[in-house]
Amino acid sequence: MDSLLHDWPEPVVAVQSIAESGATLIPNKYVKPAADRPTVPGSSAGRELSIPIIDLGKLAGGVVDCRAVIRAISDACRDWGFFQVVNHGVDMEVVRAVLGVWREFFKLPMEEKKKLANSPRTYEGYGSRLGVEKDSSLDWGDYFYLHLLPHCIKNFDKWPTVPGACREITEEYGRQMVTLCETVMKVLSMSLGFDVGFLKEKFGGEEIGACMRVNYYPKCPQPELTLGLSAHSDPGGLTVLLADDRVPGLQVRKGNDWVTVNPIPGALIINVGDQIQVLSNATYKSVEHRVVVNESEERLSIAFFYNPKSDLPLEPVKELITQERPQLYRAMTFNEYRLYIRKKGPSGKTQVESLKAM
Ligand code: OGA
Ligand code: NI
Repeated sequence: MDSLLHDWPEPVVAVQSIAESGATLIPNKYVKPAADRPTVPGSSAGRELSIPIIDLGKLAGGVVDCRAVIRAISDACRDWGFFQVVNHGVDMEVVRAVLGVWREFFKLPMEEKKKLANSPRTYEGYGSRLGVEKDSSLDWGDYFYLHLLPHCIKNFDKWPTVPGACREITEEYGRQMVTLCETVMKVLSMSLGFDVGFLKEKFGGEEIGACMRVNYYPKCPQPELTLGLSAHSDPGGLTVLLADDRVPGLQVRKGNDWVTVNPIPGALIINVGDQIQVLSNATYKSVEHRVVVNESEERLSIAFFYNPKSDLPLEPVKELITQERPQLYRAMTFNEYRLYIRKKGPSGKTQVESLKAM
């Protein structure tokens, strides 16, 4: 393991503790360069664009409906890299419960949460910064990160014991997320012209990985100067985001604009990560996104990451390499790949670009 990743470069301060101290100015480390600060609502963000909404229930219908869903997801992946799904089959009781236990967790006293403080070795636990390099930018958010799959790396010792139902509910939510991602992987496989099981097989079949990050964005006294999460693309395969439908915050890049996502109650937001970009030889691209914060409301979101088996080298599938579109990326395992974000923190799309060195 890279020696850089043994510990954080300086003591980690929870953003929640800064927010709750009553500070009216945010510390300099959280102030973003002018070009990265949130766009003022009413400028380009006022164009009322929105990411596509897809009814997954239609997959259970006839061939025509099924084809329409495959087409809609394929278009959404090409045009946006993001879409919201409704009728997704995930039990809404479990959704409510998982939001409930994690809201409760973040309300625990700081000393309790700090008992589960994470290190950059595995990232599991309660943390604040992403990126171990000393000058990596700090974002206005705290999080709890945990591994769900493979079972052998799931470590309950790093999961909260309070609230009491947290483990059981998080596991159940995770199982339902895996099922949903497997459906989307099938759709993506077919949309690329392959058999249903193609992409999952490329991801390592039954040995895929899964992890979750619960993001907690406290109220911020100067939201115009900072971000809850800096622009990044997700390093893994697919991400399913359960976002607070009362407090918008997620913005998705569309050309030179940032489009704010308005979550529909009961919907889930899905996006493709860098590994799908690599496997599909950029037929589908992972898209940059970021989170803005606000002065009056805290926000909680749960990001579930469906990832390839971590020690399997991934590269563009040969069927998608043509004379017009030669192989764009070199092979790399997900273990190697995610070291980059762990060192540098969120940094736009520079990571997948770095694979282009052929
Ligand atoms: C993430 C992410 C968005 C959000 O966790 O990778 O992009 O709205 N989260 O919290
Ligand atoms: Ni993300």
